[in-house]
Amino acid sequence: MIIPEETIENIRESNDIVDVISEYVALNKKGKSYVGLCPFHKEKTPSFSVSQDKQIFHCFGCGEGGNVITFMMKYHNIDFIEAVRRLADRANIIIPENNGGFDKEKMDLKKKLFKVTREAAVYFYRNLRSNHEGLAYLNKRGIGPDIIRKFGLGFANQGWNDLIDYLKTKGYDEQTIEKAGLVIKKDGGGYYDRFRNRVMFPIFDVRNRIIGFGGRVLDDSKPKYLNSPETLIFNKGFNLYGLNLAAKQQSGRKMIIVEGYMDAIALHQFGINNAVASLGTALTKEQARLLKRYCDEVIICYDADTAGQAATLRGLDILSAAGCKVKILNIPKGKDPDEYVRAEGPDAFRRCYDNAEPLIDYKIRRKSQGFDVSTTEGKIGFVKSCVEVLNSVEDPVTVDAYIKKLANETGISASALYEEMARFKKNGQNTFEKHISGKTRYNNNIDGQKLYLEPAYLKAEKSILSMLYEDSSLFEKIARSIGWDDFNDGVYREIAHIMYEKLKNKENIIPGSVISIFQNPDDMKKAAAIFERTVSVKENDIDKVINDFVNIINKSKLMKRKDFLVSKMKTFEKKGDVEQSVKLLKELGNIEKQLKTL
Ligand code: UTP
Ligand code: MN
Repeated sequence: MIIPEETIENIRESNDIVDVISEYVALNKKGKSYVGLCPFHKEKTPSFSVSQDKQIFHCFGCGEGGNVITFMMKYHNIDFIEAVRRLADRANIIIPENNGGFDKEKMDLKKKLFKVTREAAVYFYRNLRSNHEGLAYLNKRGIGPDIIRKFGLGFANQGWNDLIDYLKTKGYDEQTIEKAGLVIKKDGGGYYDRFRNRVMFPIFDVRNRIIGFGGRVLDDSKPKYLNSPETLIFNKGFNLYGLNLAAKQQSGRKMIIVEGYMDAIALHQFGINNAVASLGTALTKEQARLLKRYCDEVIICYDADTAGQAATLRGLDILSAAGCKVKILNIPKGKDPDEYVRAEGPDAFRRCYDNAEPLIDYKIRRKSQGFDVSTTEGKIGFVKSCVEVLNSVEDPVTVDAYIKKLANETGISASALYEEMARFKKNGQNTFEKHISGKTRYNNNIDGQKLYLEPAYLKAEKSILSMLYEDSSLFEKIARSIGWDDFNDGVYREIAHIMYEKLKNKENIIPGSVISIFQNPDDMKKAAAIFERTVSVKENDIDKVINDFVNIINKSKLMKRKDFLVSKMKTFEKKGDVEQSVKLLKELGNIEKQLKTL
């Protein structure tokens, strides 16, 4: 079940966090906050704090935190949707049910919306034919008439009322046009076109109905792509761009998932007809189930940065859980599939495709990057991470194969590895660390819980966000030196994105609201922590502090890319592919040069 964002926000707003938590925890007002005994760990003196301004809670003892929805999830041990439901009940809000039941009125409206999106698409398509700029742009990107026809590409004209006026002459009323997401309501009444002066990409569902659009600017202005909002017929998490075409192919029940419109189009253009695009969002269960109808193997082809993000990895696990074999395709030179296939041709792409790495290998390789396996400590750390990865694998034959491989590589016996896995399963954590002595990546805190020492770049990213929240006047300065998309960590990047948008529009940031973009309690907790800390910096030092943080973040980004290149080069060298390896060497040299300047 999907609950619309506005409904969630409405429910959250109608359940004041202090009121709700007071029903479970005795709270006392102390300064600006309310404090009480933390319900999530044992304590005698209160370290659990609830902020009415920020609409979040945070425990300084155990680190739990989040908004009112997180609290309900944690307290009752329920999932996001159930928590939202209970809060809706509490506030007497009715959640629009899309229970799949037959609802004549809704069906009729849907039909109407499909008609109006189709009409708009035809209009855009015709506009493009007479629009020199739009055609020239597509041309520049290597897209000709055949592809324009195949994907129904179009152009939205410059004016504010161009489309709405046209659709009205065709007999559609403003409300319907708005419900299709094509126009935006003005504050003072009336409507204006959502898409203006953009190349238009209609988004089809598997039944070839047009459910929404993406529109790309012709230059470097932002946002690069504007997409239809969620509507009765457009649920981002339920569809994949290009699936209408890919589903018709017989490609050995394999699908390639790429990130962008242009990527999917380019692959189709070069005969790789089983490509679909996730359009920049993390994969959902519904998408996984949909894909499973058409394939047994999914090859994910994201840029190295996105591929490693927590949200992406979760998406891949969702695909595995739906029964798809998952592989990760790495594109050399940091290109996206569109750039790569156009520069190197379809055969080069197919070679990457054949070399795609199984998800487990990929995870193990990522996990192992931080460890120096020539030391005992590093080896233990490495094995510990591998056990963690293998624990999520259901199939015992696969697990066995990996254990044997690991044993071979590390010299730790397979039986010890199995024992460790069993222990991990039982305790939810593993016990290798007790064998590690001396300098470790872990410290013990008072409760004997393991505390992870966070890498400097995470601290830098978190600190910048905290500073931004505390003092929005820093926004321009910060935004000038670092973009939201430069943040390495997935959760921080999403928060940076929202905060940048809000600050740009001079809107208020309500932490409790920001947190609702996550539905996973760990992410919510991580998000809440940003708004619960102060970074104390002397007025005179602010520039330097920001500069230092930005350098740390950039450096980490470069280091990651460097590690990636080095490991890639090693595999090429192993295969004797010196040519490919030398190609990477050039980028590596550039990165090293940049690193020296930081
Ligand atoms: P990319 O930034 O990788 O764009 O975003 P791209 O597809 O390579 O686009 P070109 O080649 O520059 O034209 C990947 C996808 O993320 C979504 C779009 O679906 C895009 O295709 N996205 C990106 C947005 O929705 N809005 C944006 O502003 C940027
Ligand atoms: Mn691109």
